[in-house]
Amino acid sequence: MAALNRLQKIASHLDPPKTVKFKVAVLGAAGGIGQPLSMLLKMSPYISELSLYDVANTPGVAADISHMSTGARVKGYLGPAQLPAALTACQLVIIPAGVPRKPGMTRDDLFNINAGIVRGLVEAVATHCPSAWVAIISNPVNSTVPIAAEVLKKAGVFQPGRLFGVTTLDVVRAEAFVAELVGADPRDVSVPVVGGHAGITILPLLSQSRPPLPASMPLEQRKALMARIQDAGTEVVQAKAGAGSATLSMAYAAARFADSCLRAMSGEGPVTEYAYVAATAASSSVVPAGLPYFSSPLRLGRGGVEEVLPLGPLDALEAENLAAMKDELLGSIRKGVEFAAKGP
Ligand code: NAI
Repeated sequence: MAALNRLQKIASHLDPPKTVKFKVAVLGAAGGIGQPLSMLLKMSPYISELSLYDVANTPGVAADISHMSTGARVKGYLGPAQLPAALTACQLVIIPAGVPRKPGMTRDDLFNINAGIVRGLVEAVATHCPSAWVAIISNPVNSTVPIAAEVLKKAGVFQPGRLFGVTTLDVVRAEAFVAELVGADPRDVSVPVVGGHAGITILPLLSQSRPPLPASMPLEQRKALMARIQDAGTEVVQAKAGAGSATLSMAYAAARFADSCLRAMSGEGPVTEYAYVAATAASSSVVPAGLPYFSSPLRLGRGGVEEVLPLGPLDALEAENLAAMKDELLGSIRKGVEFAAKGP
C-alpha cells in the first residue's frame, strides 16, 4: 500500500498543472483493444477529456474507467447518433473499431468489414473534428489508412501530417524480441521497423538495432528473427485459438503512440515516432519511390509530422526485403483507394 501511495505521489508530480491537456476519442472503445487502451489513456497527464465511443457496451466501459482516480474526465457514447458529440472538439482520434483476425485469416481477409467501418468513422471525423490527428489501428492498416485519406480528401480536410497508421506494435515486438535475444532490458533497446503493417511489408531494420545484434549472428538466425517480428501477430492469433488477435500488447503500443502525439502537440518536441503515413513532396527524397504510403521514422511537432526522417543504411537482407514487399504494399494501397472511390 505504501508503495502504491508513493507511486501515486510520483504520478501526481508527473502531472504538473501547466501540462497542456487535450480531448481524445477512442472509436471502438469497448473492444479487445479499446478497453485496455482506454484504461491506459485514463492515466495520461495530457488528456483532460476521454471520449469512449462504440456501437455496443460503452456505458459499462465508461462507468468502470471513470472510477479510476486519475485526471481525465471520461464520457461514454453509444451508437451513431452519439458519434458527433463524442468527436466534437477532439484533438486526437484513435480508431481500433472493427473485427480482428481468427486463426487462418490474413489481415487482408478483414478488408470487407473493416473498410466500411473506417470509412464511416472517418467521415464523421471530417465533419466534427476536421483538424484532429487520426490514428488508425483497424486492419488491414495498409489499406484502411489510404481509405481514411481519400475520405478526408473528399471532405477537403486532408492533412497528410495528421493521419497515421499505427505500426507501433511492430516496433514494440522488435524491441521485446531483440532484448530477449541479447539479454538486455527492453526499455534500453531500439529497433526501427518501417514499411507497412502486414507480413512481408513489415520491415525490421535489425542492422540498426541498439544495442547491436552480435556480429557473429548467423544470417539464418537473423532471417528467423525478422520472420518472427513479421509473423508475431499470427503467433498471438494462434495462441488465442479463435478468441481474437493481439489486444493487450496493442493497447500498450497505441498508448505509447498516443503519448508521443500528445507530447508533440504540447510542444515537448522533438518527438520521434514510427507510423504509416502518406508520402508528400517533402518526403519524396527519403521514402522509397513509387509507394504513396510507407511507415517511416517521423519527427512530430505541434502541427503533426514536421519531417519524415531517412531510413538510414539498409544491409543486403533488408534491401532485398524492401524490394520484395513493394508490389504487395502497393496492391493494398490501391485496394483502399479504389474502395473509397466507389463510395458507399
Ligand atoms: P474487437 O472485436 O474485440 O473490438 C472491436 C470493437 O469495435 C468492438 O467493440 C465493436 O463493437 C467495435 N465496432 C465495430 N463496428 C464499429 C463502428 N462502426 N463504430 C464503432 N465501433 C465499432 O477487436 P479488437 O481485437 O479490439 O481489434 C480491433 C481491430 O484492430 C481489428 O481490425 C484488428 O485487426 C486490429 N488490430 C490492429 C493492430 C495493429 O497493430 N494496428 C494489432 C492488433 C489488432
